Amino acid sequence: MIKNMIKNMIKKDKIIFDNKYPKVNYIGNKEKLANWICDYFPKNTNSVFDAFSGGSSIGYESKKRGYKTISNDILKINYYLAQSLVENNKETLNEKDIDIIFNGKPLKGFMYRNYSEVFFFPEECMDLDLYRKNINKLSSEYKKSIAFTLIRRAMVRKMPYSRFNLNWEKIKQLRDEEYSYAKYKRKRAYHNESIKSHFIKNFKDYNNAVFNNGKNNKVYNDDIFNLLNTLSADIIYLDPPYTGTMNNYFGFYGLVDEYIHSKKLKPFENNFIDKKSSLALFDKLFSNLQNFKYWFLSYNNNSYPSKDELINIISQYSNDIQVIEKPYNYKVTGKAKKTKNTEYLFIINNDKFKECVNE
Ligand SMILES: C[S@@+](CC[C@H](N)C(=O)[O-])C[C@H]1O[C@@H](n2cnc3c(N)ncnc32)[C@H](O)[C@@H]1O
Repeated sequence: MIKNMIKNMIKKDKIIFDNKYPKVNYIGNKEKLANWICDYFPKNTNSVFDAFSGGSSIGYESKKRGYKTISNDILKINYYLAQSLVENNKETLNEKDIDIIFNGKPLKGFMYRNYSEVFFFPEECMDLDLYRKNINKLSSEYKKSIAFTLIRRAMVRKMPYSRFNLNWEKIKQLRDEEYSYAKYKRKRAYHNESIKSHFIKNFKDYNNAVFNNGKNNKVYNDDIFNLLNTLSADIIYLDPPYTGTMNNYFGFYGLVDEYIHSKKLKPFENNFIDKKSSLALFDKLFSNLQNFKYWFLSYNNNSYPSKDELINIISQYSNDIQVIEKPYNYKVTGKAKKTKNTEYLFIINNDKFKECVNE
């Protein structure tokens, strides 16, 4: 604790913890935009709700800035990510835990039966089945969440394009180091490194990312529409999937949730994938934000609805809307063409909230 306090630094008039967000590798993450976004948080902010937390880059930055941070994501693995990095104030993995996780013989479980030569080679599936069984023997929920988070990182690292929606022939081709070298001048040998090796390489960084910001931070794993009326915070940060872009998060990471639960799962609803339903979802979202003083929304110029359409929707609920713009390109592996994007940050002052408070 004291060590942590010494490590803190003062930026402007706010305490900033200098712990480092580890390598997460989340599609559509805001890691490079986190400072830009959080620098717009008003001075009187005490609490932030990261409502579509994904890889937790904003939740982590908010925690570093000393805010009470609440996180939510519909995917279980993202809940574990947030539980280990945002809610968890002190627990880390030690050598004994590592021994527990990697102890024993590979076994034929859920992954072997369902995903051998679908996403991984059979012996890799058997390793994963053993590790999952062992992780559940760890002594606390926080230790389990760090362990699953590290296994996730390893699984993603082994997967070409870092997402679980490629077919096996393509995966095998891209994991062939000779082919990869001939075609891309890179062997990408990390795809063939073992899960254990990736885990061990990263575990210190994940341990070092754990810190206490003195707040009772809290994480949820739910459809956002089930939570909006039960939670409140100064700021709600909204980073939904950008409709019309590559944004099928169940397709990207649903496999990791199936691994955790050891069962096949159905894709989640209210997913912002479909243009037809996305307008109605945005309207439903903004009509339910009474409990939050400021609404921050990330979006971009290549997504649907457009900036003007979003302003139309939001203006039914507030007259105080600002849109900040920044040139920004997401790194998309496996896509030949890069488009030029402008990232938007909508900042909305919930004037109704002020009215309630002042009454
Ligand atoms: C653009 S990503 C968030 C990225 C995140 N800000 C980061 O920096 O990594 C959108 C996230 O919304 C989640 N999501 C989609 N629909 C949801 C819903 N109805 N309720 C809660 N989370 C949802 C997805 O699982 C995905 O992680």
